[in-house]
Amino acid sequence: MGLINVTINNQTIAVEEGTTILEAAKKLDIRIPTLCYLNLEHVKTVNGSASCRVCVVEIEGRRNLAPSCATPVSEGMVVRTNTLRCIKARRLVVELLLSNHPTDCLICEKNLNCELQSLAAELDIRRIKFHGVRATHEKDISSKAIIRNMDKCILCRRCETMCNEVQTVHVYSAVNRGFDTFIAPALNLPMDKSICTFCGQCVSVCPTAALTVVNEARDGGHGKNGSCS
Ligand code: SF4
Ligand code: SF4
Ligand code: FES
Repeated sequence: MGLINVTINNQTIAVEEGTTILEAAKKLDIRIPTLCYLNLEHVKTVNGSASCRVCVVEIEGRRNLAPSCATPVSEGMVVRTNTLRCIKARRLVVELLLSNHPTDCLICEKNLNCELQSLAAELDIRRIKFHGVRATHEKDISSKAIIRNMDKCILCRRCETMCNEVQTVHVYSAVNRGFDTFIAPALNLPMDKSICTFCGQCVSVCPTAALTVVNEARDGGHGKNGSCS
């Protein structure tokens, strides 16, 4: 495989063909914020859904911003990761996600441990800019191990990658399209009727509280009485 020269924020590096801008930036110690991206190096699996567009960058000569996690470098490519345009685009993405997300961080299971929350803080988002119809779903508290709260799902598809490609159990897939899309076991069955083995790996990669483990003390019986929402 040949080497490709790419310049990111005025620093040039030679990387292997097929390397993404995000990976090349990492080699230069340049951090690009991400949300859906997940690199499970130990099992050689990447969640490359490129669904969130948080990682967008500017490429010289291209009109549109590009998702750095899914864009391979090409010879002589010149990239900027921190322009005002990139930052504004990232903010817009997160503001739109927040407009369809419950705003109960203080009593959320993932408070202070949520990637969406940290990203909003990093981008200095201090208000919900867009108010509209929110997608709402019944919380799945059927299992003794995992709670599914699709109101908090950001459709990153990490759980699908983990369950389908790594664990090879194939529990999850997307149901419906567009605004009505959500992630569910086949036939939209509740977790306790699905083929889930309750290994918990999907919960460990979920960036928000869309998938959480049942905590008997807190949830008082599968989330039925507790403050989790
Ligand atoms: S807990 Fe169930 S749904 Fe989650 S990764 Fe394991 S088998 Fe798949
Ligand atoms: S349930 Fe979690 S991991 Fe799965 S798509 Fe939604 S936010 Fe991502
Ligand atoms: S992190 Fe690149 S598109 Fe989501």
